[in-house]
Amino acid sequence: MSAVQFLGILRRCGEGSGQRRGDNDRCLIARRCWVMSGTLVPRPAVTLRRAEILLHGREVTVNWREGHVRAEPENGYGPRGDFGSQQRPTLGIVALRIPNDECEVDHDVDLIKKFGYVSVGVNDLEEATEFYSRFVRLDLTERHDRTAFMTGGPEHHWLRLEEGGQVGVRRLAFELVDDAAFEVVRQRLRAYDIECEEGGDTAVEGVQRWLRFTDPGGTAIELYRGMKERGFAPDCDVELEQLLHAGWKTADFAATTRFYQDALGFRPSDWVEDNAGFFRVANKYHHAAAVVSSDRPAFDHLCIQVGSLDDLMRLRSNAQRSGIKLRSDLLRHAPSGSISIYMHDEARQYAVEFCIDHPTIESPDYSPRILELAPDTIDMWQKPLAEPRVHAVREGITAIV
Ligand SMILES: [Fe+2]
Repeated sequence: MSAVQFLGILRRCGEGSGQRRGDNDRCLIARRCWVMSGTLVPRPAVTLRRAEILLHGREVTVNWREGHVRAEPENGYGPRGDFGSQQRPTLGIVALRIPNDECEVDHDVDLIKKFGYVSVGVNDLEEATEFYSRFVRLDLTERHDRTAFMTGGPEHHWLRLEEGGQVGVRRLAFELVDDAAFEVVRQRLRAYDIECEEGGDTAVEGVQRWLRFTDPGGTAIELYRGMKERGFAPDCDVELEQLLHAGWKTADFAATTRFYQDALGFRPSDWVEDNAGFFRVANKYHHAAAVVSSDRPAFDHLCIQVGSLDDLMRLRSNAQRSGIKLRSDLLRHAPSGSISIYMHDEARQYAVEFCIDHPTIESPDYSPRILELAPDTIDMWQKPLAEPRVHAVREGITAIV
C-alpha cells in the first residue's frame, strides 16, 4: 500500500520561505526536499528508501543513485535521486508517493495552514447572531434551520452556531495545507489509537471535506479543506483582519502538547513554564493555538486580529457602552507581544480576544523560549516601575530624577 506523503509546490527560484541565499537553482518542495537543477534531495532528518514522484498528478521517473536516498547532514545533501533529463520538472505541483513501510517520517512539515473556525452550541440562535453581529462585527453568511454561519473575512465562516444541545464551544477547526495532509493525519491518528470521522458537504456545511477526532486532552478537533468563500472583501466599519487563534485548557498538558507537535506538526513558539504552550502553523503567526494546563478541559477564547489600535478601541468602546464585560482590558502579552482586549461572551462562557501587533516567526532557526509564569508575562505592562530615586540637590531642597 502506498500513500502520498508529501505534496508541495515546486516554486520558481526566489519564491518560498525555504529559499537559501545563494542557491539560485534550488527550490523547496514541501519543506523537506530540494530540487537542484532537476535533482531531488531529501532534507536532513528524512530518509527515503523508495519513492515515486508525481508531477501535475502524473508519475515521472526518478533514478535513485544508490538504490536509496538518505540525507546526510554532515556531507551536505548526501546521495541524490535524479530526474531523467527528459523529465525535469519546471513549475507545478509535485508530490512524493512513498510506500508506507519505506520511509521514516519526520515531523518537520506543515500540515496545518491556519486556525479556521469554531463550532459553538447556543441556546438561542437569534441572541447569538445578534451578539456576534453587534459586538464582534461578524456578518451572517448563511443560515439553515438551527445553524448559522458568520464571518469577518472572505471565508464562508469563522463561526458555526448550532442551536440546541450542549452550550459552548463544541469543536475547533483548522485548515489543512493540502489534500495530501488528510492521509498523513489519518496515519498519525492511527499511531495514537485515535479514531476519526470523515465527511464534508459544501452546500450544507460550507466545507468540502473534513476529518474530526478528539485530542488526548478531550478537545474535539476538525481538520478541513475547501471552505466556500465570498467573492468580495467585507465592508466593515472596523477592520477585522483574520481569525487568528484559539486558546483552550487541557487536563493533560504533556500528552496534549506532545500530540499537537507529533501528530499535527505544530511548532512551539513559546512556553510559559509547564503551564502554557503557544504553537504556530504554516501561516507563521506566533500562535494558532494556545494550550493551557488545567484540572479539566475547557475552551478559553478565540482571537481576531484587527487592523489598528483605533479598531481595537472602537470595539472596546462599543462593547462597554452596551454593558458587555471585558474579561481583561488592554494588555500586552509577553509571548507574542500583541496588544489585546478580551470581550466576555457571558452566554457561552468564554472570551473573544481582539488583538493587534501579533507577529510572525520567519526564521527557521527560531527556538521557543521558556517564560516565567508571572503577571508581567501575561501583561508586560504590569511590570512594576522602579522606585523614584531621590537625592539632595541643595541643602533643604530635594529633587526626583
Ligand atoms: Fe489569545
